[in-house]
Amino acid sequence: MKTIISISEMQNFSERARLRKKTVGLVPTMGYLHEGHVSLIKTAKKSCDLVVTSIFVNPAQFAPNEDFVRYPRDIARDKKLCKSAGTTVLFTPEAESMYPKGYSTYITVEGISSVLEGKFRPTHFRGVTTVVAKLFLIVNPDKAFFGRKDAQQCVVIKKLARDLNFGTEIVVAPIVRERDGLAMSSRNIYLSPQEREQATILRASLLHAETMVKKGTTKTAEVVKEIARLIETKPAASVDYIAVVHAESLTELEKFEPGVPALIALAVRIGKTRLIDNTTIILH
Ligand code: PAJ
Repeated sequence: MKTIISISEMQNFSERARLRKKTVGLVPTMGYLHEGHVSLIKTAKKSCDLVVTSIFVNPAQFAPNEDFVRYPRDIARDKKLCKSAGTTVLFTPEAESMYPKGYSTYITVEGISSVLEGKFRPTHFRGVTTVVAKLFLIVNPDKAFFGRKDAQQCVVIKKLARDLNFGTEIVVAPIVRERDGLAMSSRNIYLSPQEREQATILRASLLHAETMVKKGTTKTAEVVKEIARLIETKPAASVDYIAVVHAESLTELEKFEPGVPALIALAVRIGKTRLIDNTTIILH
């Protein structure tokens, strides 16, 4: 595995790969890797000749009151995980080269960036789409791999790739969970042991919602109410949002209906830590 820091060196590597007719897969990350990231790298390795994993804690997607400064970092451990998962090139650009002094170009996917996460983090997706567009331009990947854990991010990035004719195929991989169901996240390390236990309510409430829908509940409001009730049984939990939306357009749904893919997405603060999770239900 090769580590590249310089943007121009990364661009040269990508151009050479293209000339050698090698397919390139990109796995963008912010590091502090876990099994969720590793599964993306392994998936990429299966369908691409070369895998570029990027690690860049992107300042543009954090609001001033968020956790950019304390976001966990462990590059030595990340390197080992990247290598054993099958990364060809680890790309770790520096903030000063991604956003040099005077940087002023941002990419916004309108509409779908403003709902769900966007309501609570108004500048978040602008930062995500800007950095992902930059990475696509630098690496020029045939495919790029994203986790369903960030369901809205996947929808936004698919739209970005389509609207700007990137020609990169966006591959979405399933959520990887801890044994007790908590979705893996670099932020789980912030949780105290008590909070960690209470955090299992996110997945448990989503499973309960799935059962309700399978048993015939059709009104989304009823399901949302029940999820909220379950989450509120945990003293450390406070809900940012619980929503049922069309899985592709992200417009709100009033009913679960056959053939309509429904995304139940939620964001919950457990103590000071903000966690997200989701599930998609398709009735036949
Ligand atoms: P980060 O949170 O590091 O996540 C990198 C990728 O791993 C994302 O596609 C995310 O959805 C995926 N991922 C995280 N946890 C996962 C889990 N438990 N199971 C499956 N996949 C999981 O998402 C970002 O970084 C950034 O916004 C980024 C796209 C890199 C742009 O800065």
